[in-house]
Amino acid sequence: MSDTVLKIDGLCKHFPIRKGFLGRQTGAVKAVDGVDFHVGRGEIFGLVGESGCGKSTIGRAILRAFDITSGRIVYSPQPHVEIELGTMNEAELRPLRRELQMIFQDPYSSLNPRMTVSEIIGEPLRLNRLMDSAQIPEEVRRLLRDVGLNPSHMNRYPHAFSGGQRQRIGIARALVMKPRFVVADEAVSALDVSVQAQILELLLELKAQYSLSYLFISHDLSVIKYLCTRVGVMYVGKLVEVASRDDLFSRPLHPYTQALISVVPIPNPRMRTRFRLLEGEVANPAAPPSGCYFHPRCPFAKEICRDTEPALRNVVAQGDDEHMVACHFAGEVGV
Ligand SMILES: Nc1ncnc2c1ncn2[C@@H]1O[C@H](COP(=O)(O)OP(=O)(O)OP(=O)(O)O)[C@@H](O)[C@H]1O
Ligand code: SF4
Ligand SMILES: [Mg+2]
Repeated sequence: MSDTVLKIDGLCKHFPIRKGFLGRQTGAVKAVDGVDFHVGRGEIFGLVGESGCGKSTIGRAILRAFDITSGRIVYSPQPHVEIELGTMNEAELRPLRRELQMIFQDPYSSLNPRMTVSEIIGEPLRLNRLMDSAQIPEEVRRLLRDVGLNPSHMNRYPHAFSGGQRQRIGIARALVMKPRFVVADEAVSALDVSVQAQILELLLELKAQYSLSYLFISHDLSVIKYLCTRVGVMYVGKLVEVASRDDLFSRPLHPYTQALISVVPIPNPRMRTRFRLLEGEVANPAAPPSGCYFHPRCPFAKEICRDTEPALRNVVAQGDDEHMVACHFAGEVGV
């Protein structure tokens, strides 16, 4: 396998459901339930799926925003160095937190309205004593230039900026710690389409300039298609398909992926009729169906689909390419 910056193995995050005065646990939301994937160094790995399928939970698990239920999160800052983040305590995680940063969806609520842009971007440098305070303003100016903002505006407050500009400030704040790995969770979803394109372009430029790798989370397949090199499709806490971007979009093999792609506007009307729209409700991660979780919505479901959960398996017989699909009939059913 090529150089990997992050490897996720059997990741589970179950949130307890508590009821009553004593808060007794009566069940669990299996937000992420046995997920495996890797992100190559310098790669943009996209995670896509409907609302509630567990995308953000994976991003937050990687940043260790909480204790995970089980599994491994192996971070490799350099080739041949492996650090297991999943079992670390807070003191062990602290020096690594700089290297793993997050870009949030909402540039409005993620920036403190009472701090100037200069204070917002400079704060992590001050708090972590990474730089002499006299040098911080110059570093902030440099970062602002890198994210396409005018450094002379550094003493303004966030409300003086547009949505796209605020997202640039959020990106500068993530970059100030010189991370190696960035989780971008719905980073452009709150922005107008024209502004989205500019921010995506900026993320690509910064990836090269700062030697970054990204986990790019989005419910929007067109954004994923534009930016990502490989893509994982999630359904109810599990990955159902993982492939290179080109493979996934030209030859989606899981009926769920096929249905998702059918919802994306496809310019060619002949292509459009080959796909059917996604119907039915997403399964509840606290009480998922038996067998293949997608079977109640799948037009190709057979007896085995109701009883037996399909494993995520590589359907490419030869070569280095991987096209992983969790469907009993991958390649036999669908379009
Ligand atoms: N702190 C929490 N406590 C309990 N349940 C949670 C918690 N965080 C997330 N969940 C549940 O876990 C599941 C996955 O949520 P998650 O936010 O990861 O989904 P998502 O794919 O990011 O959705 P969206 O596209 O809406 O952002 C959902 O059912 C959600 O309600
Ligand atoms: S395993 Fe069966 S129900 Fe699940 S996606 Fe494949 S055909 Fe559909
Ligand atoms: Mg989310």
